Parts: sequence; C-alpha cells; structure tokens
Amino acid sequence: MIKTIAVLGGTGNEGSGLAWRWAKSGRYKVIIGSRQADKAQNVAAELNKKLETNFIEGMTNAEAAKIADLCVLTVPYAVQQSTLSDLRDILQGKILIDVTVPLKPPKVTQVNIPAGGSAGQEAQAILGDGVRVVSAFQNISATHLADGPERIECDVLVCGDDKEAKAEAIALAEAAGMRGFDAGPLQNAVAVESLTPVLIGINMRHKVKGVGIKIMGI
Ligand SMILES: NC(=O)c1ccc[n+]([C@@H]2O[C@H](COP(=O)([O-])OP(=O)(O)OC[C@H]3O[C@@H](n4cnc5c(N)ncnc54)[C@H](OP(=O)(O)O)[C@@H]3O)[C@@H](O)[C@H]2O)c1
Repeated sequence: MIKTIAVLGGTGNEGSGLAWRWAKSGRYKVIIGSRQADKAQNVAAELNKKLETNFIEGMTNAEAAKIADLCVLTVPYAVQQSTLSDLRDILQGKILIDVTVPLKPPKVTQVNIPAGGSAGQEAQAILGDGVRVVSAFQNISATHLADGPERIECDVLVCGDDKEAKAEAIALAEAAGMRGFDAGPLQNAVAVESLTPVLIGINMRHKVKGVGIKIMGI
C-alpha cells in the first residue's frame, strides 16, 4: 500500500522541496502541513502545477499528521518545541522524521548544541516513547531539492533508536534522489545537526550555495 507522508511546516523551502521530490517519485502520497490550511493548499497547488499532477494535498499540520503514516518536521528550531507540543497526542504511535537544525540566528555558521543533546533528542523527549523519532536530511540544502537533477550528490545520515523507522527514512532519502545511511542511535544526531552550520560557513566563504556531504568508500 502506498504510504502517506505529512510534511509539517512543509510550506517552507526545505519541506516543500522534499515534498515535491517525494511526490515526483510516485512512491508516496504527500500532504503539505501548515498552521494555516489555505497556505498549505496554495503551496500544494504550486507543487502540483510543477508536477502536472494532483498528488499533493494541503491542510493544517494537525489534520496532516492525523492522516499520515510518516510525519516529517521542517520548521525552524525556535518553534520546534511548540510545534511538537501541539501535535504530541496526534503523533502517538507514528514515526516522526525530524529535519530541524538547532541554529541560533544570526550566528548560523556556529555549532549550537541544545540543552537536550540535539534537536532530535529534544523532539523525542517532547513526544515521549510512543513516537519513534528519526533525525535526517539536515545536511541537504533546499537549493538542490526544488529543482535540479534526479540524483543529488549529497548523502543523508539517519540517526534513531528504531531500525524500522530508520529504514523508512533511508527509503525516503532514496525516493528524493539521495543515498541514505544508518548513522547510529538518536544520540548521534548532534554530530549530523552540527555539520549544517559548518556547511553554511563553507558556502559563505566559497560564495556558493548548498555544499553537502558525501560518504566515501562504499
Ligand atoms: N532551508 C534549508 O536549506 C535547510 C537545509 C537543511 C535543514 N533545514 C532545516 O529544516 C527546517 C526548515 O527549514 P526552512 O528553511 O524550510 O524553514 P522556514 O522556511 O523558515 O520555515 C518552515 C515553516 O515553518 C513554519 N513556521 C515558521 N515560523 C513559525 C512559527 N513561529 N510557529 C510555527 N511554525 C512556524 C512555517 O510554516 P507555516 O507558516 O505554513 O505554518 C514555515 O513555512 C529548519 O529547522 C532548518 O534548519 C533547512
């Protein structure tokens, strides 16, 4: 059966880029989530136009999370906690793939380690053991998601404490045109999240957009 993904906060660049790629793969049904249903519907309509299909729906985050088999969170770190607290009950029993990078604007080229160890671990602490949290996609820039070639030269490191949930995230990486790797327990999310400000700094110093990471030797 084809699975449904809800991209919570999917009206932003990262979420809409991932949503577009997952819908384009034909392997998933995709819902854009937002605080406002009409905003989500508008973004879904734009993506459908680009795809020349009607694969993507738009609704509130709560409605999207309720329907979905897999939920993906793409909101800024500053609102990760409040967004997840609001959705805590609806997310019970589900897999949540957390894309949050704990940046502290304006210092977006500096590593910021959250009090809870990582954004991924903080998500797990807010949601409790009833939700399987996986951390992934922090190192892929939205620049490459919206357009560009089918395959993206950036690997996705997936951290989490549940093998089956990690396998779902690795399949999502593949569907979006990337290689996904099991990068160990959720405790390791701090290493992956911390790479993003390093990559943003390299972008700035080299005057480019969207540098990424690649695992060699496999
Ligand atoms: N952009 C990238 O290249 C990139 C790359 C890797 C990882 N990430 C990470 O992915 C996440 C999303 O990035 P983004 O660039 O897509 O972020 P964004 O565009 O700034 O925000 C994404 C969505 O979050 C929701 N949001 C914004 N402010 C909010 C608030 N005060 N309360 C509740 N929801 C709010 C909005 O959705 P609604 O208004 O529709 O509710 C917004 O469209 C971030 O944690 C970022 O660090 C981004």
